[in-house]
Amino acid sequence: MTVPKKLFIKTYGCQMNVYDSERMAEALGGQGYVETTSQDDADMILLNTCHIREKAAEKVYSELGRLRGLKEANPNLKIGVAGCVAQAEGAEIMRRQPLVDLVVGPQSYHRLPELEAKTRLGETALDTDFPEEDKFEKLAARPKAKRGPAAFLTVQEGCDKFCAFCVVPYTRGSEVSRPVERILTEARDLVERGVREITLLGQNVNAYHGAGSDGADWSLARLIWALNDVDGLERIRFTTSHPNDMSDDLIEAHVSCPKLMPYLHLPVQSGSDRILKRMNRSHTAEQYLRLIERLRTARPDMHLSGDFIVGFPEETEQDFQDTLALVEAVQYGSAFSFKYSTRPGTPAAERAQVSEAEKADRLLRLQTLLTHQQRALQNAMVGRDVGVLFERPGRQPGQMVGKSDYMHAVHVQGDSVAPGDLRRVRIVSSSTNSLAGELLD
Ligand code: SAH
Ligand code: SF4
Ligand code: F3S
Repeated sequence: MTVPKKLFIKTYGCQMNVYDSERMAEALGGQGYVETTSQDDADMILLNTCHIREKAAEKVYSELGRLRGLKEANPNLKIGVAGCVAQAEGAEIMRRQPLVDLVVGPQSYHRLPELEAKTRLGETALDTDFPEEDKFEKLAARPKAKRGPAAFLTVQEGCDKFCAFCVVPYTRGSEVSRPVERILTEARDLVERGVREITLLGQNVNAYHGAGSDGADWSLARLIWALNDVDGLERIRFTTSHPNDMSDDLIEAHVSCPKLMPYLHLPVQSGSDRILKRMNRSHTAEQYLRLIERLRTARPDMHLSGDFIVGFPEETEQDFQDTLALVEAVQYGSAFSFKYSTRPGTPAAERAQVSEAEKADRLLRLQTLLTHQQRALQNAMVGRDVGVLFERPGRQPGQMVGKSDYMHAVHVQGDSVAPGDLRRVRIVSSSTNSLAGELLD
């Protein structure tokens, strides 16, 4: 019997990278690799990278530097760089860090087995094409191994929006939607393996328009309704959405589709019309607020989440105040906020930059407000009854941890609960990052 080779994957960046890492592990499974949780005994280390901000990209080079010792100790160790840094920098990575054997962009993962074989011959391998074929169909079928209750499923990839700050349209390419039937097949397969909640992923997931089995173009809402009929699947979520693609049928699904959860990540980036225009977001703050109002009218308990950038080129204190005002108006259940980071090759990189000190100051003020909102909304859950999908044991004996319908982390004491159980829970207290509850049924 051949001894399996060990694969260690380190994942950076967004949820799509998490999904891609799973699929890459499966693709290399066909080459005799099994995943290991320790890089020390690995035969291949893959860094699945993110290019969204300068810090994210630089992390990759410091991590590669740290791997030098391992490579010297084990000449058979192969080191690969995948993901968005691979796409953006390509062969430059090998020039800057010669210990790298393999560079593969996000659209070429299905070619990993050939690329790996090349490295075993002592050559380097590079593939950053945007090939015609559908990588998902070329990848090995997902093995039938059991898995946790929550999973990601990529349905759409790429972006045609070209926000002036963002590298994604360059690293992931233009928008492509996977056909409906293939998504449904993958979803049924995940359910067979123990999955109860699926988060549909796309860089612009609500711009999804995939070919349906009836030959028609299906919207994301229609896809969600089809998933709603998959037996054994309990919950559906989707991320990330763009405000301009928040169609009526999707808002309606949030009202009447039983498995679709009342949580929406809807980034706005800024509350200033001047900045939104310069960002090329193609909507105003007012349009975003009206959309939120429609969503909340349709589904009053909807929890909203957002992304913000502070210190975008030419952002003034007044622009920043407009962002704070928008945040006040929306009341976010959770949010992510970042200092603008200059990305070479994007339009905003050429413009007048805001000072680092100013960015740091605005980020602190924005995060203070967002944290305050988040805590207040979380505290308001105390006394309410919610559905919780349990995922794993907690730190205390007898404790189980799961996610509420609204994405809060919730823990209960109870030996009768197992991962994968969806139970009604009464929330009894709220602490910094989680809620404590009591089982109701
Ligand atoms: N497709 C999604 C998100 C893509 S990237 C969307 O349209 O919202 C995730 C987040 O990273 C963005 O929402 C934005 O807030 C942040 N981001 C992207 N580029 C950035 C940059 N150059 N500097 C700082 N933050 C950035
Ligand atoms: Fe980037 Fe904008 Fe596309 Fe989102 S919509 S991925 S922020 S270009
Ligand atoms: Fe990063 Fe690429 Fe995702 S740049 S955020 S890993 S799409």
